[in-house]
Amino acid sequence: MTTPVTWTKRWTFILAAAGSAVGLGNIWKFPYIAGENGGGAFIAVYLLCILAIGIPTMMAEAMLGKAGRANPIVAIRKLSLNDGKSNAWSWLGGLGIVTGIMIIMFYSVVGGWALDYVAQSATGAYANANPELTKANFAALLDSKTTQIIGHTLFILLNVVVIGFGVRRGIGIASEILMPLLILILLVLVGYAAVNGDIQGALAFMFNVDFSALSGEAIIVAMGHAFFTLSIGMGSIMVYGAYMPENACVGRSVLTIAAMDTAIALLAGLAIYPLVLGNGLEPGAGPGLMFETLPLAFGNMPGGLIFGTAFFLLISIAALTSAISLLEPAVAWMEQLCIKRWISTSIIGVIAWVGGLASIYSSDVFNFLDYATANIMLPLGGFIIAIFAGWVLRRVTVRKHLSSISMTTFNTWYIAIRFLAPIGIIVVFINGILGA
Ligand code: TRP
Repeated sequence: MTTPVTWTKRWTFILAAAGSAVGLGNIWKFPYIAGENGGGAFIAVYLLCILAIGIPTMMAEAMLGKAGRANPIVAIRKLSLNDGKSNAWSWLGGLGIVTGIMIIMFYSVVGGWALDYVAQSATGAYANANPELTKANFAALLDSKTTQIIGHTLFILLNVVVIGFGVRRGIGIASEILMPLLILILLVLVGYAAVNGDIQGALAFMFNVDFSALSGEAIIVAMGHAFFTLSIGMGSIMVYGAYMPENACVGRSVLTIAAMDTAIALLAGLAIYPLVLGNGLEPGAGPGLMFETLPLAFGNMPGGLIFGTAFFLLISIAALTSAISLLEPAVAWMEQLCIKRWISTSIIGVIAWVGGLASIYSSDVFNFLDYATANIMLPLGGFIIAIFAGWVLRRVTVRKHLSSISMTTFNTWYIAIRFLAPIGIIVVFINGILGA
């Protein structure tokens, strides 16, 4: 087996992992699921899950990858055997690989929508748009299977090319330049929305917390999204952690990534809700929310053609840097079976492509993949990661691999990963099943 490459610089891990975390989950999914689940209380639970469950689990995942220095299946097996435990824990890696492929099967379809919106913005399809026009535009896209297939195919091809070349030069450098640009345009949009939309209403919608309106189901969705948005529970962060140089600090990197990811999701909300509320649109409109609202801003602001095109280009790139991290664990695993990287990537690409077709033709498949992965498989993966890091591996082993954080931080994390995270996940599930 070849030893995995490492990132070029110490902070390339931060960029790549942030590239993985920041994606469609932040700008497309978060505003629409928070909208469907009533806003404030949902967002409060989501933030709580990020803090109490997400960040500790992300630290565990990055640590396991860095310590195991291989794809998730091999890394877990190695660590488990080293501590005299069963090699059956490596199934955790297998679960993650399957989950990643299931996610890409709908994620890539949305990536394709984003690509289509690049073309639409560039050709001025929503100049002077009103809410009726932007709604009709999105509905037309959903109606046209051909357009969706073109976008989806292009998106998968881009993934195959980037992963085929290896992550080192492509992703690292792209994330470095494009992330700041994405944030900049998002800030412009927030400014536009504040001036032209209903910012007061949006703030109330996002931050007025009324827990009585919160269903058990909504709590599951909030927790599932905490996993989804941080890219944890399936091995993306683990495999990226495996490429970390020895001297990089897991703790500080993870905090930076989680902070960036959360800030971008909240900014997306502040860009979208004022326009939704100011234009008589529905926050609970579902997956079309971003595609129906942002064109309103771009269609009516000076330089909207350029801003709009740039924005959808950036979101496509953000989606791409996330999507490759969904595929990388599978590719790294196949590579270690001595299948060449290009061939592994192409095989996984074809599987993802076929699955994506199913999502295009059936919204039931799309919804099932989205729901089952985020709300069941990722929390399950996170639960097993927490048990493995907190209870299966020996404390000295874990401490050795998290040696750059202070003893106090380590102890806090250790309590979180042993108790807070697993119990939190179970409580949310029980609560959801009981329909509380
Ligand atoms: N976090 C990404 C987003 O928000 C999606 C993603 C990439 C992901 N890798 C993942 C989600 C691993 C879950 C697990 O768009």
